[in-house]
Amino acid sequence: MIDGKTKILGVIGDPIEHTFSPAMHNAGLSELGLNYIYLPFHVKEDRLGECIQGAKAMGIEGLNVTIPHKTNVMKHLDDIDSVASMIGAVNTIQFNFDENNESSNQNNETSVTTKGFNTDGYGCVRAIKEKTSINNKKVTITGAGGAARAVAFQIASSGIDELSILNRNFEKAVSLANDLESNLSEAGIDITINSCEIENLKRELDSSDIFIDTTPIGMYPNVDDKAIASADMLHEELVVNDIVYTPMETSLIKEALKANAEVVYGYKMLLYQGIRSFEIWLGREAPVDVMEKALLDALGI
Ligand SMILES: NC(=O)c1ccc[n+]([C@@H]2O[C@H](COP(=O)([O-])OP(=O)(O)OC[C@H]3O[C@@H](n4cnc5c(N)ncnc54)[C@H](OP(=O)(O)O)[C@@H]3O)[C@@H](O)[C@H]2O)c1
Repeated sequence: MIDGKTKILGVIGDPIEHTFSPAMHNAGLSELGLNYIYLPFHVKEDRLGECIQGAKAMGIEGLNVTIPHKTNVMKHLDDIDSVASMIGAVNTIQFNFDENNESSNQNNETSVTTKGFNTDGYGCVRAIKEKTSINNKKVTITGAGGAARAVAFQIASSGIDELSILNRNFEKAVSLANDLESNLSEAGIDITINSCEIENLKRELDSSDIFIDTTPIGMYPNVDDKAIASADMLHEELVVNDIVYTPMETSLIKEALKANAEVVYGYKMLLYQGIRSFEIWLGREAPVDVMEKALLDALGI
């Protein structure tokens, strides 16, 4: 029941109507009996600064950030976590209320500071770890956009040996590889870059343990798009993760099943990025099973 003590979490984006996060988070909050509500907020680009100031003033405790605000919101935050800084994008904001702060007491106000995190890469890596160990593996990623950056930085910091990045626009793959090398040089990972042609992808997949497709190929409504890799390019020991989650069984997942490869569904990344956000805000373990069921129900799966 909403009452005078109900605390607020939410998600900001433009558009926002199609978000699945409220279903997942409200189920988790209710399971733990917490007097919180998680709401969607439609925020336009030119109101982002006002939105963060308004959220501070209204005592909102946490926000998720979705497209197109993940990078632009950073300039409105007081602090950015190191992983989010490397990625250059924030999908989670924690609001910290310090009633004991000296300046707060003088002005009879509560000081509120904000910190940005990126839990997208964490979500993808945790989903893959459910199926395989990541240590000393070779990982191939297709795509070099926003999601690829989050996934690449997180997985490159998770104990892998080799990372192969293929992108249609080769320059974007070069730029991502350069950023990884300059930020994670001490990780000692072998990074290879290629343009995303069939023969390059086949060669890289032959020697890979994990394949993550971060392109939108096969995403609703383009569900009949040809998969980025056909079954004959995949092998049985490969773990194949398509981060697209609508539909659940994308054209790539179908090819992976044909090849008897292990599959990781895209909704798992969405689930675990939310689980991590929940834990950042509330400082306690999230009820994963309940939140997963609510997410699957919302996705109609
Ligand atoms: N599961 C989750 O939680 C989750 C989280 C975030 C995103 N996603 C999904 O991930 C996908 C990508 O999101 P994003 O934010 O990274 O998008 P983005 O920044 O626009 O990047 C898309 C990438 O895919 C490549 N690409 C697009 N169409 C292609 C095609 N037909 N053939 C080959 N490459 C193609 C682009 O290559 P160029 O550079 O050559 O244009 C680019 O590298 C979306 O479907 C999104 O819904 C899922």
